[in-house]
Amino acid sequence: RILTGRAADLAGRRLVISAGGTREAIDPVRFIGNRSSGLQGYALARTALARGAEVTLVAANVALPDPAGARMVRVESALELRAAVLDAVEGADAVVMAAAVADFRPSAQSGSKIKKTSAEPDSIHLVKNPDVLAELGERRREGLKPYPQVIVGFAAETDDVLANGRAKLARKGCDLLVVNQVGENLAFGTPDNAAVVLVADGDQVDIPRGPKEALADVVWDLVAARLL
Ligand code: CTP
Ligand code: CA
Repeated sequence: RILTGRAADLAGRRLVISAGGTREAIDPVRFIGNRSSGLQGYALARTALARGAEVTLVAANVALPDPAGARMVRVESALELRAAVLDAVEGADAVVMAAAVADFRPSAQSGSKIKKTSAEPDSIHLVKNPDVLAELGERRREGLKPYPQVIVGFAAETDDVLANGRAKLARKGCDLLVVNQVGENLAFGTPDNAAVVLVADGDQVDIPRGPKEALADVVWDLVAARLL
């Protein structure tokens, strides 16, 4: 495969992408999950590979074909995803956290299937999961190696999209935050996406509704511009 021009602008770059949605086990057969299909993360992986990058794809519960040439790491839970991402960012140039990571997990997992009885069920007690994106931003701020040069987050918002997005970008300490508006048949499970990319310096890039590959290419343009 011969790559020319912009097509090869990520040659030699090592990129880490997380995709899909984590599952937090309740018992051996049940979990708390979310609606992320992995389509946007996989589109990011395919476009990065097409532009010459070396890609590690940390996939959480995704039922899609492996992008040709990606190093695949499969995970299930947020804790597994954290370990896989922290391992993969060693020596990486950029990380894009497209995965929907569960904010909470059951504080205890039953080792055996929870049975239905005549009594009302117990409540499920939850505890916080680590915030992987915020942790990466913090490592970089503190100069705690290894950390990637460029850090990108995703956010799905339903209300006050831009204000919530700006606050989130600052809180997470990332360079770019891709904010999706959820609803209107957008985002989850659909081939199309529309987003606004918030840049840490205050800039904003609107990406009109279109294929997830098109959004991915804009994200890589912005990442490539920030790589030394
Ligand atoms: N993220 C993460 N670890 C978590 C939760 C989220 O790394 N435990 C990452 C996601 O991969 C995404 C970004 O943080 O790139 C934003 O996720 P989001 O759920 O929108 O942000 P939260 O800070 O969890 O805020 P909230 O769910 O309350 O809106
Ligand atoms: Ca969240």
